[in-house]
Amino acid sequence: MNEWNPPPFRAECFINPNLAPAEADLAAVAPGVVDADGFARALAEIRSWPGYAPTPLVDLPGLARHLGLGGIHYKDEGGRFGLGAFKAVGGAYAVLRHLQDRLGNEASVADLIAGKYRDLTRDITVCTATDGNHGKSVAWGARLFGCRAVIYIHEGVSIGREQAIAAFGAEMRRIPDNYDASVRACAADAAANGWQVISDTTWEGYQEIPRHVMHGYGVMLREAMEQWPAGETLSHVFIQAGVGGLPAAVAGFLWLELDALRPKIIVVEPDKAACHFASARAGTPTAVTGKLDTLMAGLACGEVSPLAWELLDKAGFAFMKIPDAAAVFAMKSLAAGIDGDPRIVGGEAGVGGLAGLIVAANDQAMRDALLLDAASRVLIIGSEGATDPALYRQLVGMSPEDVLAGKAAA
Ligand SMILES: Cc1ncc(COP(=O)(O)O)c(C=O)c1O
Repeated sequence: MNEWNPPPFRAECFINPNLAPAEADLAAVAPGVVDADGFARALAEIRSWPGYAPTPLVDLPGLARHLGLGGIHYKDEGGRFGLGAFKAVGGAYAVLRHLQDRLGNEASVADLIAGKYRDLTRDITVCTATDGNHGKSVAWGARLFGCRAVIYIHEGVSIGREQAIAAFGAEMRRIPDNYDASVRACAADAAANGWQVISDTTWEGYQEIPRHVMHGYGVMLREAMEQWPAGETLSHVFIQAGVGGLPAAVAGFLWLELDALRPKIIVVEPDKAACHFASARAGTPTAVTGKLDTLMAGLACGEVSPLAWELLDKAGFAFMKIPDAAAVFAMKSLAAGIDGDPRIVGGEAGVGGLAGLIVAANDQAMRDALLLDAASRVLIIGSEGATDPALYRQLVGMSPEDVLAGKAAA
């Protein structure tokens, strides 16, 4: 990219009329979604896992200058526990909590990893449906803590992603339909076999596990708060959504942490799978149907997580839907490093929020509606690295290794 000049993208932005006032209390507005104790316990547990290290919060001053913003800080989750995505801190944490509940005692992470309860845990099966990253986290957690995993994928999940999950010893089952169909197949088999579903989405009567998942995500936010430059006010977060667990965790954590000074949360989705956008516009959870065929695989969800929605309905300042081309542009921009910014490997779903920011900052109407200006300091969660390296190379024109080695695009 010699000249960095974003083309116009066909995107839409909806300002949320249901946004709670600044002084509102999270526990009153959206009770039972996330809370400070849940975030604190997850943080303490996850920080004790082998290989734990905070991921970097990367400053992108070049990109911010080009977009006429005060600052952009990109939390790069590509290195999280060697799994390539933020999901490592969600599904695996829920597996841990489930095993601790089943063992009926205070089984510690160290005991479980050392195999102290292996005779009991090897007979426990956890299962989930996934677009890739969540299933990898559950499979990894099952192996780490010593139980069995069965992972359901849909027809849109690439072979590369399937193999990456299978590598953790999980049994794989591919369902010939979309993500929501794989969720239903997983639930049916779990009921028939007495397995525990570890889902990142909620449904009636099933909330506890997805709450653990959301609390696990809080690790990223705690780190980001510790890394955030002193004296800078965080004004906006552009955050990508699939079922909504990630944006709900982000919004909930920052509400609890910053209260009335919390930033504006802009929820970004692929235009082919924009169930939050549809729900916001309709004023009630609204499914989108069809193949949900987006390159942003992790965001290909047609139904919101009802529990996450209760929070996002009140905490989302705006909802955006963007085309795949915007995500590819964001991937290339990160890979190039604008005006001397560090080069970053961001995967298709991982750059959703950044793509939304680039689109919005370049569109005067959206810029005005979202109150973006030269004083804005934006947090982006780069939720995955190149979780499918072959696809990354095809889209960006360089391998992840070459991007990090700083080679020019072919
Ligand atoms: C890389 C990535 N980013 C974001 C998301 C969205 O998270 P959620 O489904 O909790 O909204 C996903 C979901 O799988 C993902 O894989």
